[in-house]
Amino acid sequence: MRLLASLSLVASVCAGSIPAQEFTTLKGHGGPIMGLDAAPSGQVASASFDNSAALWAGRLPQWLEGHDAAVTAVSFAGAGRLVTGGDDFALRLWMPDGTSQVLGLHKGKVRGLAVSPDGQMLASASWDGSVGIWSLETGSLQRMIDLGSGVNDVAYGGESMVFAATMDGRILGIDPAGKSAPRPMVEQGFSVNRLVVDAEAGWLAYGAVDGATRVIDLETAAEVADFTLDRRPVLAMDYHAATGQLAVGDGHGYIMMIATGNTGERWRIARDFRAARKGPIWALAFSPDGDIVWAGGLDDVIYGWPVALMGTFDPAMGQEHSFLRPADSMPNGERQFMRKCSICHALTEGESRKAGPTLYALFGRRAGSLPGYRYSPVLDGSDIIWNDETIDALFDLGPDHYIPGSKMPMQRITAAEDRRDLVAFLKHATQPEK
Ligand code: HEC
Repeated sequence: MRLLASLSLVASVCAGSIPAQEFTTLKGHGGPIMGLDAAPSGQVASASFDNSAALWAGRLPQWLEGHDAAVTAVSFAGAGRLVTGGDDFALRLWMPDGTSQVLGLHKGKVRGLAVSPDGQMLASASWDGSVGIWSLETGSLQRMIDLGSGVNDVAYGGESMVFAATMDGRILGIDPAGKSAPRPMVEQGFSVNRLVVDAEAGWLAYGAVDGATRVIDLETAAEVADFTLDRRPVLAMDYHAATGQLAVGDGHGYIMMIATGNTGERWRIARDFRAARKGPIWALAFSPDGDIVWAGGLDDVIYGWPVALMGTFDPAMGQEHSFLRPADSMPNGERQFMRKCSICHALTEGESRKAGPTLYALFGRRAGSLPGYRYSPVLDGSDIIWNDETIDALFDLGPDHYIPGSKMPMQRITAAEDRRDLVAFLKHATQPEK
C-alpha cells in the first residue's frame, strides 16, 4: 500500500520557487494523456488512456465518458462542441451540456482529428488506412478516402485541402471533396506521426518515428527547414500562428520550440528542454495567446508550461515514478504488476480513473462485480471467482482465451514463476484494510 501512496505523489509536481499560478498542472486522469486541445476561450480538453476525455474549467475536470477504449484524439469543434476519437474506432461529438453521440466509426483505431477552418467539417485519421471526412452540421460521413496505409494524423490547409501523414512514411495532399486523387508530397521512409500546416504562410511541418522534423513548402514540397535530431521519435506537435511558435514533443520527454519563419525571424530552435523526467510527450496544445503550452504524456497529469519559463526548472524536482524505479530493486511480483498491470489498475479502494477496475479486495470477488465500473457484457454475467487459480489461468491462457470478448488486452505471462510471484504480490497488495 505504501507503494500506491507514492504512485499518487507522482502527480504532485513541485514548481520550486516559481509561483504556483504560473506553472499549472491539471490532475485527475487515471492514465496517460494522449491528446490535448485548447479552445479560443482558453478552456483545455484532454483525451486519456483511461477511456475518458475531460473538459477543464480552471483545474476542475468535467469527465466525458462514452468511449469503450483509450481516447487518443480530441479537438474543439466550435459552438461549445468537442470531437473525440479512440481505440474503440469511434468518433464522438460532445455537446455543450456534456451529452454525446457517435458521429461515426472507423474500422481501426482513430489517431488524429482536424476541424476545418470554418468549423463545418471534420477530418479523421485512422489506422484502418483511411481519412474520414465528416459534416459536423449534419453529423454524417461525406467520404472515406483510402490511403492504403495506417493514417496517423490529418490537418486542414484551408477549406479545400487536407494533409495526411501515414505509417508507411508518406504525406499526401487530399481533396476533401474527393474530386481529385490524393497527391503524394513526401516519402519519408519512416512512419510520419504528426503534422501541422500554415496554409497562409505556405508550409507544412512534420515529425516522424526516426526523429525527422522537417518543414516543406506546400506547393513544391521542397524542404524549407530541417530540425531533425537523431535521439527522438517525434510524437506530438502544435502550432500557434499568431506568435509563429511551433512546439514539438518527443519520445524522450523533450519539447523543442521552433520560431517559424512567419514572424520575421528565420527558422530556428528557440528552446529545447526536457519537460518530462521520464517518458514521452504524446500531446501538446498552445493556449489561445500562445503564452502557455499544455503538455501530456505518461504521467496522468497535464502540465501547463509558460513559454517564458520553459527550461528554467525541472518539473519533477527529483521525484521518480515509483513504477519506473530500477526494476531490480523490486521483488519480482511487484515488478510484474508495475510493468504489466499498473497502467490500467489501481490497488486502492474506491473509484479510480484507470481503464480497468481497481483490484482492491480482488480475492474472493466475483468477476465483473465491482459497483460503478462499466464492464464488458461477458464479464458482467461471468461466474468466475477471482483466486490464485483463476488469476493464474487468466494470464497463463491470456484474457482473450480465458474470457473471450473481454476488454482486457491480449497479454500472457508465460513463465509460471512470474505468475506465481504476481499472484502473491496481488494477494498482499489488494488485501482489504481492516
Ligand atoms: C491496457 C489495460 C489493462 C492492462 C495492462 C491490464 N488490465 Fe486487467 N482489466 C482491464 C480492463 C479494461 C478490465 C475490464 C474487462 C472487461 O470489462 O471486460 C480488466 C479486468 C481485470 C480483472 C477482472 C476484474 C474484475 O473486477 O472482474 C482482473 C483480475 C485483471 N484485470 C487483472 C489484471 C492484471 C493482474 C494485469 C497485469 C498482469 C492486468 N489486469 C493488466 C485492463 C487492463
